[in-house]
Amino acid sequence: MNPNVTVVSHPLVQDKLSRMRRKDTPTPEFRRLLREISLLLAYEVTRDLPLTTQRIETPLTAMDAPVLAGPKLCFVSILRAGNGILDGMLDLMPNVPVGHVGLYRDPKTLEAVEYYFKLPVDAAQRLVIVTDPMLATGHSAAAAVTRIKNAGVTRLLYVSLLSAPEGIKAFGEAHPDVPVFTAAIDSHLNDHGYIVPGLGDAGDRIYGTK
Ligand code: URA
Repeated sequence: MNPNVTVVSHPLVQDKLSRMRRKDTPTPEFRRLLREISLLLAYEVTRDLPLTTQRIETPLTAMDAPVLAGPKLCFVSILRAGNGILDGMLDLMPNVPVGHVGLYRDPKTLEAVEYYFKLPVDAAQRLVIVTDPMLATGHSAAAAVTRIKNAGVTRLLYVSLLSAPEGIKAFGEAHPDVPVFTAAIDSHLNDHGYIVPGLGDAGDRIYGTK
């Protein structure tokens, strides 16, 4: 197993993921489950954030209380399915600013083409958590992270719900410095680039477009 990959095997995450995979799970439930899992993933992703102490007064006495030391965080969603992960993360950390990256694959050249890119102005000073539910081929994930690095960001984490071994490998080769957090690594990609057994098209299932 790639040491840069953390599979979040918490039973609540696994149970909710299994409910998302079922083909008859309706859109509102799918979205709610993704939001709940994302909150739990956010908890794991931030586990090693450094702490410092701050002098505070409780009703009884003064104490040196643990508080986050920084760096500050930033979420970046890869459009459009990445937005499905944002809600749960923002439930846990509502003050974190959010950037967006929109890429599509040119059907002729197969190159990733950017159609939208916006980061918070001080993103380069932040630890950037990139979100996209499906790490499939890894190509658009790698292209998005390259683009974010080109904007000056040096500290990144990547969060997916489901990953394919092919995507883990390709992304790890492109960005060995970026740790990946995922709820499961499935069997393989099919000929259409879908993760098997997977859960289908994440964007369509989040937004009810199919
Ligand atoms: N994107 C999806 O939404 N689903 C897959 O299985 C692969 C990529």
